[in-house]
Amino acid sequence: MTSARSDAFVLFGATGDLAYKKIFPALQAMIRSGEATVPIIGIARGGGTIETLRARARDSLEHNGGVDEQAFAKLSAQLAYVNGDYNDPRTYDTLRAALGTAARPLHYLAIPPSMFAPVAQGLARAGCADNARVIVEKPFGRDLASALALNATLHEVFPESAIFRIDHYLGKEAVQNLLYFRFANALLEPIWNRNYVESVQITMAESFGVLGRGRFYEEVGAIRDVVQNHLLQVIALLAMDAPAAQDAETMQAEKLRLFRAMRPLDPADVVRGQYVGYRDEPGVAADSAIETFVALRLRIDTWRWKGVPFYIRAGKRLPITATEVVVDLKRPPLTIFDDVPASMSNYFRFRLSPEVLISAGVRVKAAGDVMRGQPVELVARHQPANEKSPYERLLAAAMRGDASLFTHDSAVEAAWRVVDPVLSMHVPPTPYAAGTWGPADATRMFTGDGGWHDPEAEMSAPC
Ligand code: BG6
Repeated sequence: MTSARSDAFVLFGATGDLAYKKIFPALQAMIRSGEATVPIIGIARGGGTIETLRARARDSLEHNGGVDEQAFAKLSAQLAYVNGDYNDPRTYDTLRAALGTAARPLHYLAIPPSMFAPVAQGLARAGCADNARVIVEKPFGRDLASALALNATLHEVFPESAIFRIDHYLGKEAVQNLLYFRFANALLEPIWNRNYVESVQITMAESFGVLGRGRFYEEVGAIRDVVQNHLLQVIALLAMDAPAAQDAETMQAEKLRLFRAMRPLDPADVVRGQYVGYRDEPGVAADSAIETFVALRLRIDTWRWKGVPFYIRAGKRLPITATEVVVDLKRPPLTIFDDVPASMSNYFRFRLSPEVLISAGVRVKAAGDVMRGQPVELVARHQPANEKSPYERLLAAAMRGDASLFTHDSAVEAAWRVVDPVLSMHVPPTPYAAGTWGPADATRMFTGDGGWHDPEAEMSAPC
């Protein structure tokens, strides 16, 4: 595998949901910025022609950010279509012919993981895997055992350096800023440990439900959908030790050490919920035991973090849509001013969506004769979400062969090891009303530790 740019982009699942919502908009943006000048070959098994695919791409853009006519004209010209069954060797011969002189294709598998093996083998048989890269979507497997099996399957055809496991959270501006802010400044390091940090919380709240993805969601649930990947990745960036350099290998090694120090979850530290109405969604079983909400307490067994609880809360149909991290610092050791609250007197806040915010919470004296204070937030960064979509950033990186924003086999496996003990919890999820913060158990479970800090829907105007 060389570090040369990929010279073709092959999209498996070209007529699917992910291609429609995310990949075509990212491709149009990459064409606009000059990052995608190569042939783009869509593959799907639903019949149709190149014209059908062009029309679908256009429709996708109309509904997801808008059509740039100039870029779309280029996209249409670069686009080719291969229609065929993924189990049929002829599909890959047709693909090889469509690739023409391209010798280093990038294959994006936007298809169910059950199809990874036949596709990888089909690509290899037809000579489409030589010098190729492959992007695979999350969730990577269903548990530790299936992730190990998937890795073994892919490794039969592709070396690890050619496999790009995508987690779009790693392409988010706000998530990248977490890493940058931690390691471009010296001020956090002295306090970023068990001596000063009381607890860490991450809330990923979504006010919407499963948005027509009931069938997919029935296979995953909140823990597999967003905790095993997005949220554990965020914790890794928050909690890892400083890497000695910025290169992909050094970063991945530090992250891996952290993943491996996460203690496998104890079922007693997990509350699962299901919103009332979920079972009426299309594709959902009438007696579904899948969780649409989870709240959990995670422990990290390192000198730095021993004893510091990391809380995660994620759910659908919650009161708002926002993702936020709060690192709550310990109170001053001596209570001189009795108005200082037990929690959230000093904290760092990282808002990951919808906008980007980094701030520090402190107390200052309120004007007047009495020594009483008020909370203020020192805002280091507050901006709307970046224009560049995570998919655009990540696809462009994969085309260049830059693996720093992708997840290695060992890290994916380590993350599954953390959630594995709670994937088959036999207690059914507790129902919660749509528009609430999940089951009451989730709130009760953490009240002893200062409670949850609900993010606000709208933050004050960017400064
Ligand atoms: C996806 C999940 O990976 O991330 C969805 O499958 C979730 O269920 C989405 O809604 C959230 O991503 P973002 O970028 O909108 O916060």
